[in-house]
Amino acid sequence: MGFDFDTPVERRGTWSTRWERYPADVIPLWVADTDFRAPPAVLAAISRRAAHGILGYTTPPAELRDAVIERMQRLYGWQVAPDWIVFVSGVVPGLHLAARHLTRPDEHALVPTPVYHHLKRSLELARRAHTDVPLVLSEGRWVWDEAFLAAAAKPDSRLLFLCNPQNPGGTIFTRGELARLAAFAEQHDLVICSDEIHADILLDKGKPHVPIASLSREASRRTVTLVSPNKAFNFPGAGCAFAVIENAELRRAFSADHHATVHDPSVFGYEASLAAYRECGDWLEAQLDYLRGNRDLVEREIAAMPGLKMAHVEATYLAWIDASGLGVPDPYRHFLKHGVAMSPGAQFGAPGFVRLNFGTQRSRLEQALKRISSASRPSPRG
Ligand SMILES: Cc1ncc(COP(=O)(O)O)c(C=O)c1O
Repeated sequence: MGFDFDTPVERRGTWSTRWERYPADVIPLWVADTDFRAPPAVLAAISRRAAHGILGYTTPPAELRDAVIERMQRLYGWQVAPDWIVFVSGVVPGLHLAARHLTRPDEHALVPTPVYHHLKRSLELARRAHTDVPLVLSEGRWVWDEAFLAAAAKPDSRLLFLCNPQNPGGTIFTRGELARLAAFAEQHDLVICSDEIHADILLDKGKPHVPIASLSREASRRTVTLVSPNKAFNFPGAGCAFAVIENAELRRAFSADHHATVHDPSVFGYEASLAAYRECGDWLEAQLDYLRGNRDLVEREIAAMPGLKMAHVEATYLAWIDASGLGVPDPYRHFLKHGVAMSPGAQFGAPGFVRLNFGTQRSRLEQALKRISSASRPSPRG
């Protein structure tokens, strides 16, 4: 079955976070959802539920637990038990639960930088001491500075955050890289909180996603893995996410706010997730092909623009563009003035960068790249 990713869908007037923030002449390529309709099977499942008409309190469906277990086994050879799965309304609440409940107030955490802002934000709001561990470019990939990491551990370190695949930066961490992080966590007796929301958006064929918890029983026992179909199947507005936690003690601590400050997913989130996992493999493959085309276009065009550079994007639909060579004080504002709204790198800890969301129709992306190109040309006065 063919799927259409090319026809633009009007999103203004639908309360879209991405589309309502800027004036109509700005192309918004910032917050991480895509401009693609969710898969037909997801929309059908939501419609069936709406047609039933009762939207009462809902228990996490056993069928969805089964679908998660089947998926983890099939994709990663990772055997998950039903009671390891804790459903939450989003990955972001999961990050904040981890920071608050898996560390004591006097304990310390390690967090990569640059990274999706809620990893660090969760520690700031929980008032936990933490060290930012830089990612460095090595052979064209953003990877952990392992020497820095080794020196950053303290006696009271308790939590290690990981974002795999990495947002921003697009790295799919290898089994070897993850094994070294897991060994480090074991050496210092750290809990790992691994945000794996981008695990299904793998653009480089032959580079598999490896959940860090799937490496070994030891890694599994110290890891909280945060997962959601929201990103890959594009329904974050009907969100559903879950944590996979083998260790019962960690699970109890993580779940302390369950049904209280953090709500369960909505019935539509459960329906969407079940349909996505059961029925939407072919849609996902088609979307990945389309995104690969967009990724290749972005990489080609950015490489030809003076003052801009970016690493190859292995996963995610997010390009992490180093604009420090432009010599402008605020690259985000500079591009905004030229009609493209990207995410400011400062949001992730790197002010010289911008993050471009290429999860959009190719024609719109081409138009945005033309604007970025004209913003990157040296001015006539030099
Ligand atoms: C790494 C990462 N984690 C979490 C989220 C958001 O998760 P959720 O919408 O499920 O709260 C995003 C969204 O961009 C993300 O990139």
